[in-house]
Amino acid sequence: MTGLVVAMDGPSGSGKSSVSRGVARALGLRYLDTGAMYRAMTWWMLRQGVDLADPAAIAARCGEPGIVSGTDPDAPAIHVDGVDVAGPIREAEVTGGVSVVAAVPEVRALLVALQREIIGTGDIVVEGRDIGTVVWPDATVKIYLTASAEARARRRSAELAGSTVEAQQQAMARRDTLDSTRKTDPLSMADGAVELDTTALNLEEVIAEVLRLVAERT
Ligand code: C5P
Repeated sequence: MTGLVVAMDGPSGSGKSSVSRGVARALGLRYLDTGAMYRAMTWWMLRQGVDLADPAAIAARCGEPGIVSGTDPDAPAIHVDGVDVAGPIREAEVTGGVSVVAAVPEVRALLVALQREIIGTGDIVVEGRDIGTVVWPDATVKIYLTASAEARARRRSAELAGSTVEAQQQAMARRDTLDSTRKTDPLSMADGAVELDTTALNLEEVIAEVLRLVAERT
C-alpha cells in the first residue's frame, strides 16, 4: 500500500514551496518540487540553444538531459547531467521560458513518469500544477493553494531583489495564463481538492491548516 501523499497545487506565488517544505518537515516526509524539474528541462534547452518557439524541437530533444531531483525538504537539490542547477533555474531567462517548455506534451509525459517513480511508495509532499489532477490523483490529501494576484506578486518581489510588485504581477499573470490554458494537463483544481486562500494567512497558519487536513484523513 502507498504511504501518505500530499498533493500541493496552485498558481505561482501562492506559497506552495514554503508550505510544502514546512509540512514535510513537520511530518518527517520527503518533498518533491516538480516545478524545479520543468525549470531544469528549460535550463538545459536554453543552454543547448534549442529554440523555445519551436515545440517540435523541444519534443525531439527532451529525452536527452538526465534530470535528478532530490527529496530532502531541508535542502532541495536538482541536477542535470551531474551539474547542480538549483541556482540557475531561478534566473529570469528560465522563469520566462518555463511555461512554454512545460506546455509540450512530450516534456510532460517524460517528467510525469519521472515524478511518479520518485513518489513511488509515498510518504512525500509533492508541489506543482497537476499533482492532484494527473500525477497522483489518489493522493491522500489534495490542496489547492491560492492568494490574490497582488499578494502573490508582493511575496515574489520580496524574494527577488530589484523587482517591483507591478512587474512581478505582470510576469506572473502571463505565466498563470499559459499554465492554465495549455492543452496538456493545465493548472486546475482537482476533484476532491481543498482550496486554501492564503491571502490573509501567515505561513504558520497555512501549515497548521494543512496538518489538520492531513490528520483528518489519516
Ligand atoms: O513552481 P514553479 O513556479 O517553479 O514552476 C515553474 C513552471 O513549471 C510553472 O509556471 C509551470 O509552467 C511548470 N510546471 C508545470 N507542472 C508542474 C509544475 C510546474 O507545468 N507540475
